[in-house]
Parts: sequence; structure tokens; C-alpha cells
Amino acid sequence: MSALIELRTVGKTFSGGKVALEDVSLALQEDQPRFIAVVGESGSGKTTLARLLLGMIEPTTGTVRYRGEDLAGLSGARRNAFRREVQAVFQDPYEVYNPFYRVDHVLTTPVRKFRLAATRTEGRGLIEAALRSVGLRPEEILGRYPHQLSGGQRQRIMVARALLLRPRLIVADEPVSMVDASLRATILSSLRRLHEEMRISILYITHDLATAYQVADSIIVLYRAAVAEAGHVERVVKAPLHPYTQLLIGSIPLVSTERSWVEDKPAAGRPGGAGCHFADRCPSAMDHCLSAAPSLFQVAPDHAAACFLRADAPALAEGALSSVLG
Ligand SMILES: Nc1ncnc2c1ncn2[C@@H]1O[C@H](COP(=O)(O)OP(=O)(O)OP(=O)(O)O)[C@@H](O)[C@H]1O
Ligand SMILES: [Mg+2]
Repeated sequence: MSALIELRTVGKTFSGGKVALEDVSLALQEDQPRFIAVVGESGSGKTTLARLLLGMIEPTTGTVRYRGEDLAGLSGARRNAFRREVQAVFQDPYEVYNPFYRVDHVLTTPVRKFRLAATRTEGRGLIEAALRSVGLRPEEILGRYPHQLSGGQRQRIMVARALLLRPRLIVADEPVSMVDASLRATILSSLRRLHEEMRISILYITHDLATAYQVADSIIVLYRAAVAEAGHVERVVKAPLHPYTQLLIGSIPLVSTERSWVEDKPAAGRPGGAGCHFADRCPSAMDHCLSAAPSLFQVAPDHAAACFLRADAPALAEGALSSVLG
């Protein structure tokens, strides 16, 4: 059976030559829902990955497939099915609201567009249920204008909206970066509950390792457009294998939810495309790290790192990233 969504050796280079993502292969199966965190510092390619998965931009190399079909060629009913099954929750929810419409609008529109209900009453029932499932009280939300709600309420409405469509995958790009710590926990635990109760896969994109560790089962660490390390979250955080991940984890106390990743100096990229992206900062860099890029080596069934220090382990087969994610 085809994967719900699959990236095959996907890369993205923006005009001007900026390499934003390199050679990512990942498949998500409908019958194996996952909660995956994608972490990495600013500019590492997280949002690019999200936009590729959502079909908002086209890859420069490789393909993104939805149920076996290239996203770029989807049309009509298939494209609608994709738009319904793969939902996005973005960082700044204020931007998606029209200040002149009551917030109801962002909920009634998908109900109408995707014909989710036969009657108004039925539609209203669906909307109320979706709001309750993210911990909001419909009577406190419906009928209000966006500016009359808190940022956290607006963000949770976006999660409720994503849910209305009964998606199979939610791509949440920094969904809690605008809210305070207690709301952050509420939103993340509502995503967690959705994953467990409705078997929805969640791709939680964040620069915040602490919340990734709290909420996800597995993790992908991006560094300068490439996957540096991936695996079960517990293993990666407790026993990181890539010098970059080691550096980060060593510098971030996991008890704190307030700290975020140390900002990298502007990504220089790899001159000429050769060598490991991390070589110029790596305390263990060897000569050939400057001339050849390491592939992902599978150190354990649920753990892989793109580092020549791990080259005694077998290289991960192309597209097998998903297998180390649990
Ligand atoms: N439309 C674009 N045109 C040119 N370059 C882009 C474009 N979008 C992103 N980039 C570049 O690609 C790289 C990756 O960007 P991306 O937005 O994926 O990073 P990110 O990991 O989401 O960062 P942040 O944590 O700041 O959101 C960055 O260097 C960025 O400047
Ligand atoms: Mg981003």
C-alpha cells in the first residue's frame, strides 16, 4: 500500500542558489500514526520541509507523493482529498484571521467547502465538538472577533479547524511559539491526545528541543538543510550521536521550557557542496569531513546519525529514515 505521504530524496534550492533542504526521504503510513518532532535552529530548513509536505512549494529534486501520486500532478478530487487529509497549523494564527469576520468564519468555511455536514445544525455540532476537543468552550469563542481572543485561543482554534477535517496528518510549524508556557502545554497535550485518540500523525516542527522531548515519540534533527540525526526521542536526547546534537543538548537544560536553541551564525552552506555541513564547527572533524558528506549511519534500530564517527554502522538505506522513527 502506498504511504499516506512520502518524500523521496527531496531537496529544495531557492532561486539565488540557497540550498534550504537536501536529500530528505521520509514516508508516513496511514496505519502507523507517528508523533515526530523536527528540530533545528533558525534557517535549518524546517519550514521548507513543512511547505514541501503541504504542497505549498515544489521540490527542486525528488518527489513528494500523496497516496502514491506526485503532489505536483494532483488535481480535482484527489487534490481536495489531500487538502483535507493533510492539515497545517502555523506559527502566527493572527495572520490567517480576517479581522472583520467573526472567528466562526474560519470554522464554517471548511465545513461548507468540504461539505462536512448536511445541515447548519449538524455543522454547528461538528464545530462545537472540535472546539471542545482542544479545550475551548464554544460559547466563549463563537461570535467573537479575532482581536477579542487571546493568542493561545486563536492558536487552538486553528488546531480545532485542522481537526474538523479529520486529517490523517497535521503539520504543525512552531504552533506554540507565540504562547506562554502553560498554554503551550495545553496545546501540545491537545495535539498529543489527537494523535492517541484519533490516530492522527503529527509532525511537530520547532526550534525548542525541550517541548519536542516532552511531546514527541521520535525526532529528526536538521542542521543546515540536512538531517544530522534521527531516531527515538529518548535515545537521541539522552545519548546523542552527532557532534552537533551533542553540542546542543549539552547547552540546553531540558528542565526549562523557556530556553530555545542557540542561534547559529549565518549558515554558510557547503562551498561546492562537498563535505559535512557541520565540519567547520565540529570538535571531532577529520580531514575527509571537509571533502565528503556523511550519509546517515544506522547505529541502532531506532537511531541514525549522519557522521563519519559512526561509519562502522551500516548506512541507512535510501528512504529508510522512517524505519528509525519507531
Ligand atoms: N522563498 C525563499 N527564497 C529564498 N530563500 C528562502 C526562502 N524560504 C526560505 N529560504 C531560506 O532557506 C533556508 C531555510 O529556511 P526555513 O524557513 O526552512 O528555515 P527554518 O528552519 O524554518 O527557520 P526558522 O526557525 O527561522 O523558522 C533559510 O536560509 C532561508 O533564508
Ligand atoms: Mg520556520
